[in-house]
Amino acid sequence: MYAPAEDSYLLVDCVGRYTGKQALEIGVGSGLIADELCKNFQMVAGSDIDFQSIRYCRAKNKKIMLVCSDAASAFGGKARFDLIVSNPPYLPDDKQKDRAVHGGPTGIETTMQFVQSAMPLLSQEGRMLFVVSSHADTSALYELAGKLGLKKKIITEKNVFFERLSVVEFTCESVLL
Ligand SMILES: C[S@@+](CC[C@H](N)C(=O)[O-])C[C@H]1O[C@@H](n2cnc3c(N)ncnc32)[C@H](O)[C@@H]1O
Repeated sequence: MYAPAEDSYLLVDCVGRYTGKQALEIGVGSGLIADELCKNFQMVAGSDIDFQSIRYCRAKNKKIMLVCSDAASAFGGKARFDLIVSNPPYLPDDKQKDRAVHGGPTGIETTMQFVQSAMPLLSQEGRMLFVVSSHADTSALYELAGKLGLKKKIITEKNVFFERLSVVEFTCESVLL
């Protein structure tokens, strides 16, 4: 299970600025971010592909609706969220030996999968927050976001050793008009 690190704390600081009815975290890990979401949202859901992470979070916080699933694939039908957040695995690695940290050959593939999986679940004025790293190919993510009609805004940034971590907010362009 992923132990909270600089990237986790960067996202925690951002989610505290948002309020709404329903929020979803993809890749809950130890549950630090989902716990924070519980302070400002009436209903919080979370997913992780790692069963141990789901078990750990469930034992710690009974308020979160947790599912062991690939990205947000378990949430279908009429589920809609005002905020969808993720600190996805983003280190480049062809074989993705550790799914907690390896995000695909260029580091961005899992993030792109999460964004595509989250898109149909956004409420009309919903927002997404994703941690992105300078270690990953963010240009591919931003190209995808453009194709999906998402507007991006960098909410916060932090340099950590040889890496630049950012939290990017995605909003449907129609909402901003
Ligand atoms: C960088 S960790 C972040 C954990 C926690 N949110 C935090 O910030 O401390 C990424 C998390 O995403 C999960 N994950 C990786 N691939 C996934 C997938 N395809 N679907 C759901 N969760 C996934 C990992 O198991 C891990 O818990």
